[in-house]
Amino acid sequence: MALPFLIVAIDGGAAAGKSTTARALSARFNLLHVDTGSYYRAVTHELLRLGVATDDPGAIAAAAAGLALGTRVEGRNARIEIAGRGVEEADLRGPAVNAAVSHFAAVPAVRAALLAYQRDQARVAREGGFAGLVMEGRDIGTVIFPEADFRFFLHADPAERARRRAAEGQQDSIAERDRLDSSRKASPLQCPAGATDLDSTHLSLEEVVARVSAPIAARFAAGA
Ligand code: DC
Repeated sequence: MALPFLIVAIDGGAAAGKSTTARALSARFNLLHVDTGSYYRAVTHELLRLGVATDDPGAIAAAAAGLALGTRVEGRNARIEIAGRGVEEADLRGPAVNAAVSHFAAVPAVRAALLAYQRDQARVAREGGFAGLVMEGRDIGTVIFPEADFRFFLHADPAERARRRAAEGQQDSIAERDRLDSSRKASPLQCPAGATDLDSTHLSLEEVVARVSAPIAARFAAGA
């Protein structure tokens, strides 16, 4: 029986459980895992390295247009490279990037620089022999893959999300990033029309994964 190639979109605010869920789906169904937040973080790290200010749209657009983006697949994870270089996890998740990423991500030229690159991850997944891809972010179900086979929107109340980030040993301005990400004009964070909206405040991550996995398992069982 031929298996379908499935695209799964997971959107939601900071620390809503997207990455844990996406990793679990990736492992269970052999999907390429694409964390687009890490792409915006890598671009932010590069713009900061180039000395671009968060409030200088002209310089941001010029620098964003010149980025040479590539992908290295590590296990089931698609990692972005800029000019042939990856960025260390510690730098991606450090305070400088946390503070700047939502500002750069609100600039249309930055989103435009990543648009085709993100869609092209479906080709990377096919060529890598994956059964599909699971992509997490803020605008995957609305802008990047509105035709995805499955679209989920995760949320949880802010206190619970802050607790999860602290348990990961991270300091993060979750509420401020969500405010900026939801209120920007370009591809704001919002639940895609028709997506499955899941409140994980009172669910364990295992329960979230179980709910999200069930329809995907059924689709694979049904075949192409
Ligand atoms: O998922 P994350 O918290 O690592 O994402 C970091 C930032 O990147 C987030 O605050 C907004 C931006 N982002 C975005 O604008 N669009 C996406 N698809 C993913 C992330």
